[in-house]
Amino acid sequence: MWTELKAAAKAAEDRKILDLFAEDARRAEGFSVTALDLLFDYSKMQIDDGARDVLLALARDADVEARRDAMFAGDIINETEGRAVLHTALRNLDGDAVFVDGQDVMPGVLDTLDRMVRVAEEVRDSDITDVVNIGIGGSDLGPAMAYLALAPYCDGPRCHFVSNVDAADIADTLRGCDPEKTLFIVASKTFTTIETMTNARTARAWLQDHGVSTDGRFIALSSNAEAAAEWGIPAERVLGFEDWVGGRYSMWGPIGLSLMVAIGPDAFKAFLRGGQAMDRHFKSAALHENMPVMLALVGIWHNQGLGHATRAVLPYDNRLSRLPAYLQQLEMESNGKSVAMDGRGLPVNSGPVVWGEPGTNGQHAFYQLIHQGTRVVPCEFMVAAEGHETDLRHHHALLIANCLAQSEALMRGRSLDEARAMMAQKGLTGEELERQARHRVFPGNRPSTTLMIPKLTPEALGQIIALYEHRVFVEGVILGINSFDQWGVELGKELATSLGPLVSGDAPADEKDGSTQALLAYVKRRS
Ligand code: F6P
Repeated sequence: MWTELKAAAKAAEDRKILDLFAEDARRAEGFSVTALDLLFDYSKMQIDDGARDVLLALARDADVEARRDAMFAGDIINETEGRAVLHTALRNLDGDAVFVDGQDVMPGVLDTLDRMVRVAEEVRDSDITDVVNIGIGGSDLGPAMAYLALAPYCDGPRCHFVSNVDAADIADTLRGCDPEKTLFIVASKTFTTIETMTNARTARAWLQDHGVSTDGRFIALSSNAEAAAEWGIPAERVLGFEDWVGGRYSMWGPIGLSLMVAIGPDAFKAFLRGGQAMDRHFKSAALHENMPVMLALVGIWHNQGLGHATRAVLPYDNRLSRLPAYLQQLEMESNGKSVAMDGRGLPVNSGPVVWGEPGTNGQHAFYQLIHQGTRVVPCEFMVAAEGHETDLRHHHALLIANCLAQSEALMRGRSLDEARAMMAQKGLTGEELERQARHRVFPGNRPSTTLMIPKLTPEALGQIIALYEHRVFVEGVILGINSFDQWGVELGKELATSLGPLVSGDAPADEKDGSTQALLAYVKRRS
């Protein structure tokens, strides 16, 4: 099937997107998907019916529907770790049975949700003014991203997110906190992650240094209650989750506690309901009308088909400033792998490099390359029809106008003749006109998609996050990889541990390569 995809991509290379619109008056409708409150428009790219058929055949060939059903059924689809993948159970608010090893996990899930609600309400009713979530990767990015995204719904204590082992992170955060009124949430699935445990110890020392008892000041969110207990957090202050919740898929459960504290249990449940609604859509919609499937196929088309190595995520929403980072982990930690589930090398590229920034800021920074650079960067725009600042509607109108202008500009471009006419209008002639005109040419025909959302509510955010989770899953299935392990982060961790004594000078560096030795020598000289 990959050969067919490559052939379809080759045939599409010189296809003009504008011609596709000219040939089909209903293209926008035909090349978009509506699901729940969302509209996903993928008409501004070089895809036609034939190419879409090839992509859908790829999905069928990879048994996407059967793999999806296996995931929801609690089968061990994370084969390298021997685990089920059931973050969807965390948002299964109606509690329909979900079995793992013959055991219904839903009573436990709902019980933990009730405990989260009790803890969150207790914190919201207390005199705690600041909550510091200490976690990294999947134990940080989800709640940190959503806390910013849902700022209009935040009516609880202030939340902070400390992740980096760089002391600057925790020092800068604690500077603004009152030790008497600060609560720490240690979020770590394994409860062994070096950054998180280092920051947690520093937080404990900070309280002690201020003469404040640490009793009742720490909550643990972890699958490893034993390690939390050893660290000094008693069982009643540990909210646990099972190994079938992957770190980067974990914000729907206890890892979302800081978010629940910030926005309240009702809004948090609305977020879960949004995710659950997307699950239902994903489970029931036909492939071509299935938003996560079509989003995944668009990704496959651009990356494995046309060979575009990166993908820009461009939310026109300042509150989604951390969404690109969140999606970066989701996609790159899940699908950045060169070995297929069966142990063989991938016959095509692994998942793409994901990056981005909110619009309109990015327009004044890196869009230059997107419009006129030599590489094509497929862009994924996202914008809400309505903003929250009803007294500042003109801002939102401008925001939408900019978002739509960018996708139009990327597609339309500006020809040399148009640029010449522009320069002639400015009074230029001859060689100078020609030279200036060349710099003002936009190649155009650059692909983008747009996800429209009604308003960035908790429910809509839930839909969006679940949409992207399933997109990554479908891409992984088509690539034949396990999207739920992350062996690629291990080697660096091991080496960092062994380098510790070398940095402090407690062990010699002679066994290291020349570069590492020279860098260590610099540290020794300058510290
Ligand atoms: O470094 C990779 C990783 O394992 C991520 O997958 C995970 O989200 C993060 O580290 C944090 O892990 P933990 O929650 O166990 O501290």
